[in-house]
Amino acid sequence: MTEDLVLPAPRDDDAPAPAAEPLLTVAGLKKHFPVKGGFPIRRTVGAVQAVDGLDLTVHVGESFGLVGESGCGKSTTGRLITRLMEPTAGTISYRGQDITHASRRQLAPVRSEIQMIFQDPYSSLNPRQTVGKIISGPMEINGINPPGGRETRVRELLEIVGLNPEHYNRFPHEFSGGQRQRIGVARALALEPKLIVADEPVSALDVSIQAQVVNLLQKVQRELGIAFLFIAHDLAVVRHFSQRVAVMYLGKIIEVGDRDSIYTRPRHPYTHALLSAVPEVSLDENRAGGRERIRLAGDVPSPINPPTGCRFRTRCWKATEKCATEEPPLVQISGNREGHLTACHFPEEPTIEGRAEDIVLDPALAALEDVATERPDDPAK
Ligand SMILES: Nc1ncnc2c1ncn2[C@@H]1O[C@H](COP(=O)(O)OP(=O)(O)O)[C@@H](O)[C@H]1O
Ligand code: SF4
Ligand SMILES: [Mg+2]
Repeated sequence: MTEDLVLPAPRDDDAPAPAAEPLLTVAGLKKHFPVKGGFPIRRTVGAVQAVDGLDLTVHVGESFGLVGESGCGKSTTGRLITRLMEPTAGTISYRGQDITHASRRQLAPVRSEIQMIFQDPYSSLNPRQTVGKIISGPMEINGINPPGGRETRVRELLEIVGLNPEHYNRFPHEFSGGQRQRIGVARALALEPKLIVADEPVSALDVSIQAQVVNLLQKVQRELGIAFLFIAHDLAVVRHFSQRVAVMYLGKIIEVGDRDSIYTRPRHPYTHALLSAVPEVSLDENRAGGRERIRLAGDVPSPINPPTGCRFRTRCWKATEKCATEEPPLVQISGNREGHLTACHFPEEPTIEGRAEDIVLDPALAALEDVATERPDDPAK
């Protein structure tokens, strides 16, 4: 008699995260870049309000997606959090410690725990250094000697990111774009970080490679328990990867919530517009799909002189006088799940039911997700 096959319980991605312990907390974060003008004496005539009062929390081991159109302040947010840039106002706390104005010396232990992966895998790797040197660089700078030596650790890291450990002595130009981004991931992992800020880590890659790198990052996040702030300009890329998602517009977060709330019950008109911008294909034929495509009128206004009240009002089809005079607070409005916050006076109805998994935002990317699991792109010859 054959015994019943016992399969492990499926991972329930919709289950609330156990004991959400804050790792990074950002409150009222602002970055205003001065605009100089005048002749012959140049003086400050205004400010680019790149980030203007941002509140967010990333929990231990969580993947948090930050999404918005180009120029809305995503990279600036990433640089402020990793302390590559000084904020104009606000606070950044890491593991309960205020690091907003920490000195270089005070920051040293935190620096190794927060790492960054950059958008461009071509310019972010030194072309004159071997892969071994690049990946062991952070260990060298921080005087870290892992058991077994740095070279052994680099080989291990190459294996984790799906590259051949024997390629230790090769140079970046010998690798493809996807492989270079894997090298960037290995470098970010070298100091065993607790948080990785990934600034559009797949935008510069061919669509055929994007899903492979996203899968690698997902593996790293789940298996090594590393929290991610994953920055992307489109909602399709973070859909599988992020447990919570924040949508940014002109320096502010306009909606934030768990993944299903953002993808299937969005309340902010801008989130609706972003979701409708790419063709939707419903996997569940019985479910009401076919979101109407919303074309946003006009360009993103200048962050030097943003609209009064709600910053989205110049492109919003629901805008009224109130929207021009009163800034809508980012709050949990009626009908939202706990933790789903929306900044809008006249939110959309929460009509679209379902699971984020069932909504395919970009058929090309989704098709790749099926074939790309765990298979690294072919190593360079
Ligand atoms: N160093 C800088 N000096 C002046 N303006 C800047 C600087 N860096 C970014 N900006 C401006 O800040 C705004 C936000 O930029 P950024 O954070 O790069 O946006 P995103 O990453 O979302 O595309 C843009 O208007 C950009 O031109
Ligand atoms: S507050 Fe007004 S302008 Fe802003 S998104 Fe809501 S309806 Fe549109
Ligand atoms: Mg950017």
